[in-house]
Amino acid sequence: MSSKILILGSGVIGLAIAVELQLRGAQVTLVGRDINGAATNAAAGMLAPGAEQIPAGSMQDLCRRSLYLYPEWTRKIEESTGENSGYWCCGILAPVFKELENSKQNTKFVETYRGTSQTLEAGKQSDDSGYWLNKEAIHQYQPGLSTEVIGGWWYPEDGQVDNRALAKALLTYSHSLGIDIKEGVIVEGIQQRQGEVIGVQTNIGTLSAEHYVLAAGAWSNQILPLPVNPRKGQMLSLRVPESITELPLNRVLFGENIYIVPRRDRRIILGATSEDVGFTPGNTPVGIQNLLQQAIRLYPELKDYPIQELWWGFRPTTPDELPILGSSPCKNLTLATGHHRNGILLAPITAKLIADSIWEEKSDPLLSDFHFSRFLERSSTNIPMLTHPANFSPNSAVADRQNIQYLEDSLLKIAGKTFQSRLMTGTGKYRSIEEMQQSVIASGCEIVTVAVRRVQTNAPGHEGLAEALDWGKIWMLPNTAGCKTAEEAVRVARLGREMAKLLGQEDNNFVKLEVIPDPKYLLPDPIGTLQAAEQLVKEGFAVLPYINADPMLAKHLEEAGCATVMPLAAPIGSGQGLQTIANIKIIIENAQVPIVVDAGIGLPSEAAQAMELGADALLINSAIALAQNSPAMAQAMKLAANSGRIAYLAGRMPIQSHAIASSPVSGRINE
Ligand code: GLY
Repeated sequence: MSSKILILGSGVIGLAIAVELQLRGAQVTLVGRDINGAATNAAAGMLAPGAEQIPAGSMQDLCRRSLYLYPEWTRKIEESTGENSGYWCCGILAPVFKELENSKQNTKFVETYRGTSQTLEAGKQSDDSGYWLNKEAIHQYQPGLSTEVIGGWWYPEDGQVDNRALAKALLTYSHSLGIDIKEGVIVEGIQQRQGEVIGVQTNIGTLSAEHYVLAAGAWSNQILPLPVNPRKGQMLSLRVPESITELPLNRVLFGENIYIVPRRDRRIILGATSEDVGFTPGNTPVGIQNLLQQAIRLYPELKDYPIQELWWGFRPTTPDELPILGSSPCKNLTLATGHHRNGILLAPITAKLIADSIWEEKSDPLLSDFHFSRFLERSSTNIPMLTHPANFSPNSAVADRQNIQYLEDSLLKIAGKTFQSRLMTGTGKYRSIEEMQQSVIASGCEIVTVAVRRVQTNAPGHEGLAEALDWGKIWMLPNTAGCKTAEEAVRVARLGREMAKLLGQEDNNFVKLEVIPDPKYLLPDPIGTLQAAEQLVKEGFAVLPYINADPMLAKHLEEAGCATVMPLAAPIGSGQGLQTIANIKIIIENAQVPIVVDAGIGLPSEAAQAMELGADALLINSAIALAQNSPAMAQAMKLAANSGRIAYLAGRMPIQSHAIASSPVSGRINE
């Protein structure tokens, strides 16, 4: 228990932690640069774990716990200060537009977009927080919506707070509690000695304390090399004209790329863009135009409301868009940053959990999922003060990818989950479990596919799989290998989901779908695969179907809602290389989902070639497991996948029909 605590950051997160610690008896100093550019000021104050579609799992738990703290937390702040925070449990309505009605993908869209297995029929959402309102119900409930709205989700538990009023009240509360607040302070560096912070250098001199908290939002990475980057959001507010006596909106409207947040003081906040432009300040015509267009489309009456204010801010965003909470490599430094779109919502729970960990030395189990160490092997940021854990491999695929010095690359994203590595592997056919373990590590892969049937039957190499790999780091991709019919595959997929749960991957709904009646060439059955895929998508699975390289089938599967399509390069285990290259090219060209080339790759050159064509990822098992030195081949495949990816991004030179000299002719000395 340290009594003198210095908090770096004067946004709502820093203030909330400061108040919580001071109330528990600490002596808190808080320093901040300028609240005006911070996410706290820029936010709309939505409290929206439902409408924001936070995926089930620890982030959803964190958000919900925070939402449930809100009434009591704001009541205490309001009572102590006499200031209103604008907390309003008004619910959030997420209308859905007409174009979906006619789209053959409408069910799929609603399922994917709202993350549920419900159809457009009235009903409750699978996470229990949203209800579907049909056309009549939604227009009755919220008059004035666009006639294009054909229904929508109602999230009664969501709400809002007036973020600026909240920050002001927290500031008043902090002053009244005796917290020493220093605004206009720029942190220039953190002095460390032997794993401890001994002081913070600032423009007003060196400040020291017994314990430190980094809560500097989008600026955190100017203080410590954490993977937190600014994500700009532009916003504006309108005013309900005086001629309208009753407030026209009494709940938040959450549309596509727009939210409309009505305040009780007649302001209406419209937000927000999401731009990767660093700290570029200012509102832009296109940013504001988009917001206005979307807002007027959703709620046409707004078109005549006077504009009151335009502003922008910088969300603190990490690569996985989750916050960084808890301990750091320095024993007296705690991290509370990277809250991305959810800082206002997460303020009370962040304050509670961080105060528990500093003051009571009690670490809530939930914190472990938000620990900075999840980026250790992944972050492009080399955190110099870290001691590398035993399994840190500077040769990992990720480290190689970060050596891409001249290119920006996006992460591989499948069903909303992001991965750094574009190489997936398997567990079958290895000579020993040790060789499999070494190969998985050497491949740098983050996804390993496992045959559910083989685990069930304890087939050789599949005993002890739970312990053999670090399932905290490796995402399990259960596969339905051995299933001959759609029905069998659906059954085995369900078992696979349970298997992933047993390994601690509660939210893993991935399945690699294989329906293979043909024993000789192991060619997948297209009709059975499509039938099983449709059923599994309905049941909420992220389906990754293994198919022959058939562009039409790939399109049908994508339209059925599959998360990826996995065309084969050649028959499974054949090592024949890219036999289906012409069709794979077409599949890649037409796809909106990631394309994973699966099966048949025998050599790294083939792996590289598939990536050069624009495949998003590869799944390679036999070529690694059956190589004479499996870990070495795994490493070669990792390098090839990376190399192919870089080449794809770099763009190849045009092919010429004739030679063109490398040295220019101009400037040559004539003899
Ligand atoms: N919380 C909404 C946003 O960041 O835009």
